Parts: sequence; C-alpha cells; structure tokens
Amino acid sequence: MTVLSVSTSSAAALRADAVVVGVAKGPKGLVLAPGAEAVAEAFDGKLLDLLTTLGAAGAEGEAVKLPAAAGLKAALVLAVGLGEATEEGYSAEALRRAAGVAARALSGLKKAALALPAAAEEEFEAVALGGLLGAYEYTTYKGDAGKGPVGELVLLTDRKGSKDAKAAAERATALGEEINRARDLINAAPNDLHPKAFATIAQAVGKEHGLKVEVWDEKALTKGGFGGILGVGNGSANPPRLVRVAYTHPKAKQTIALVGKGITYDSGGISLKPAGHNETMKCDMSGAAAVFATIVAAKRLGLQVNITTWLALAENMPSGTATRPGDVLRMYGGKTVEVLNTDAEGRLVLADAITKAGEENPDVIIDVATLTGAMVFALGNRTFGVMSNSDELRNRLHATADSVGEAAWPMPLPADMRKSMTESSIADMANMGERMGGGLVAGLFLQEYVNEGTDWAHLDIAGPAFHEGAAYGYTPKGGTGSAIRTLVRFAEETAAGA
Ligand code: BES
Ligand code: MN
Ligand code: ZN
Repeated sequence: MTVLSVSTSSAAALRADAVVVGVAKGPKGLVLAPGAEAVAEAFDGKLLDLLTTLGAAGAEGEAVKLPAAAGLKAALVLAVGLGEATEEGYSAEALRRAAGVAARALSGLKKAALALPAAAEEEFEAVALGGLLGAYEYTTYKGDAGKGPVGELVLLTDRKGSKDAKAAAERATALGEEINRARDLINAAPNDLHPKAFATIAQAVGKEHGLKVEVWDEKALTKGGFGGILGVGNGSANPPRLVRVAYTHPKAKQTIALVGKGITYDSGGISLKPAGHNETMKCDMSGAAAVFATIVAAKRLGLQVNITTWLALAENMPSGTATRPGDVLRMYGGKTVEVLNTDAEGRLVLADAITKAGEENPDVIIDVATLTGAMVFALGNRTFGVMSNSDELRNRLHATADSVGEAAWPMPLPADMRKSMTESSIADMANMGERMGGGLVAGLFLQEYVNEGTDWAHLDIAGPAFHEGAAYGYTPKGGTGSAIRTLVRFAEETAAGA
C-alpha cells in the first residue's frame, strides 16, 4: 500500500528515488508547471529542451523519465503532462489525472516526491488523491506480484507550518484508501467474494472503525419477509445477506440512507446471460462496495451527519431452486412482483432494501447500482445516470459529481412508462417493462418502493463501475470506485448544512 507524506523541503533537497514535475502544452511549445522551479534550476535551464528531445509535448497521460541532474537528491526525474497550459492554473481534475499517471509510472520505487502545482489547498488535495488512486494495483491472485505500487509519495509544500497541507493529505488518504478498498472488493473473484464473505468483511471493517453492523442471514431474511433478496439469491449455493451499517455523529442534523446493489455475481439466473455478457459480472456489487466505502470514509473524516448504509447482497445463479421467469415474489412490505426476466434482479434486491431503509425515515435515500445495460448504451462507459423524485436533489447530485470530477448526467423518470410494468402483469408489478429506455424503467420500478415525501435518488453506475480498457489518469483497469467521491462530498455538504 502506498502512503502519503508531506514535506516542506525543496524538490532538489529531498532524498527520494524520483521527483515528479508537471509539464504542459504552451502556445510556443512545452512549458513547466508551477512546483517544478527547483528541479528546473538543477538542470541549468536545460530541462525543457531535454524533455522536448525525449518527445515530451505536455499532453494529458504523458510520462517521460530522465536521469536527474547533479544537485538533485533524487536519481530520476519524471515529467507528466497536464494538457493545455492555462493562465488560471490547472484544474483539480487535470492534477488528479497527472498525479495518477505519475504514481503508476513510479510502480516499484520506494519513495517519490511530487513537485506538482500545489499552491492552493484544492490543488494539493487533488495531487494527493490522484497519486493514491493512480498507485493502486490489484495483485491478490498473482503468483508473481510484480514490482508493487510505489511505497511512499511525498507531497511538497512551501506553505508555512503546512498544517492545512497535512489536513488535506489526511483527507485524501481517508478517501483514497476507501476508494481503493471498494476497488479490492469489486476486483475480488466472485468465488471468493460471495454474499456471506462480503458481510463478514463489512463486519470486520465496521468493527475496526467503530461502525455498527447488523447482518440478516437467509433465516432472518425469511423471517422478515424479504422476498426480493431471497428470490434473487435462492438459485445460488451461496445464500444472500442484507447488511446494515450505521454511522452516527452526536451533532448530526441530517440522516442519509445509502442503498447499494450487491450482486456478487450476475449470471442472469434462469434468463441466463450469453457468453460475452457475464465475464465482468463480478462487478455487479459495485454499488454496495461504493456505499460501504462511503460510510467508512465518512467515519474516518468525522463528518457531522448520520449515515445508514444498506448492502443488498445476493448471487444471481440458475439452478433447480432458482426463481423462474413467471414466478411471483412477495417483496418486503407486501407488494407482489412477477419476475418476467431473472436478469432484472438488481431492482428486486434494491426494492427490499429501499423499503427497509425507508422505515427509519431518513432525510434522503440514495441508491447506487450497476443496474442496466441500457444506461451504458445511453451514457457510455464513463458517465453514471442520476434519477430522482426531486428535481432539486437530482440537480444537486449532478453538481456535486461535477465538483469532484466524476462524470454524471441527469436522466428522467417519465411517468407514462410505468404502465408497461403494471398493466401486463398478474401481480402488482412485473420486474420488466418496455425495452426502450430500460434504465428509466428500472428507475421507475425502484421509485415504487420509496415512501411518498421522502427525497430519493438513484445512481446507475453500470457504465463507469468497471473499466475494461487500459488504465488512464487515476483510473485503473477493473473496479474503479465510481460514485464514492460524489457520495462523500454529498455527505460533507449535508454536514455543512446543505
Ligand atoms: N447487472 C446488469 C446490468 C449491467 C450491464 C451492469 C452491463 C454492468 C454492465 C443487470 O442486472 C441486468 O442484467 N440488467 C438487464 C435488465 C433487463 C433484463 C431488463 C439489462 O440491462 O439487460
Ligand atoms: Mn442482471
Ligand atoms: Zn445485475
């Protein structure tokens, strides 16, 4: 694991394996970003020429290494691209991405200093978080674990006392480590991370951080009448679980309920997915991983808000005991659902958990789910959809996501689409409706389980939750930790009185 530290020493004097500087595309060629002055000085004004000779252009994603000049305590200089140079400085997102690229390029080294722009606290925190997120590697199953992530990233600051720098680094550490924890959960093989294993981890981590954790096993779920979670889980040899995690602050004025889809593997069930559609379906618990990471981060940050997190955990498998297309389930709370497609399972487990969460009358309910392929068709692989019964909440979540550099987009819940789930069914509702706009149909299904008068939002992270391509910026291959930064910031805003 990579650790962050803060130092007020100069980039030239710090003893490290490497020192990282930023470069950008200026109007007349390569320019150095703020923070690089001491390193540039050691090269007698030749650093930009050397980098240009090595092919550096300052583009985003670029990482160019060169041996350090005499006068530097580090052996290696790494220049990372920040994109277009601007008068106003670099955006937090550009800094996060550049720090992420740098951290990945430093894999295998013990200690590296980051001499990137960090004059403002926001810049400093962006560099810190990008570094931690970019350093992430998932090696649990590798016989040869390779070089391993960079051991220590030293954040340089010239600010007196560097007290706010230390606070920013601590905040980035809490957030970054929890995002990386979510990534570990998502990347774990589904034969290891089944519902019971996830619940056990939630209990252990909850205990470590002083969170209250309650678990409903299959017996308790049966007794409680959780027909949705049981209906999805009953095809699997690994029984389902519902987990409640609570964080309370004595001075909190608001309570946020977070509900996560936790399908540890989605085969589709009897409505089996064809080959080509199930290889990445271990990622179908990314919503549960995100809300769990959020509550642990909130506790580590001591946010003045109450958070209750619900993990709806089940494995969706086909078998002789599996729910059939045509079965009717009696959901928690008593509503009936005709299961027309067992691959529309996320809404079934979420419906039970949303109803249960609503019993405690939270101020707001936000569910997070890799819910529909339709949302991926609509918004692509890097943007999550935001739906809500409140225009204000939907707009706020969109703005919050923007402010932390997560791509999100508002999506509607068109009332007329609801009847495609009710009119054709022998039960109160079917779990499938019209095919077009399937992401919105799924949202409308969930809305049925929200109490009138409760603000609720639904984040469909099916696109960005799992990254199949090569790593970029601070985003690794595999589980990304989508929505966590948005949720933690949302909790911070709520704590501050939003
Ligand atoms: N877990 C999937 C959605 C998904 C697809 C997540 C791609 C990540 C990437 C979900 O359970 C599902 O299978 N949804 C169906 C619903 C349909 C049967 C109404 C879908 O989107 O095809
Ligand atoms: Mn499915
Ligand atoms: Zn699913």
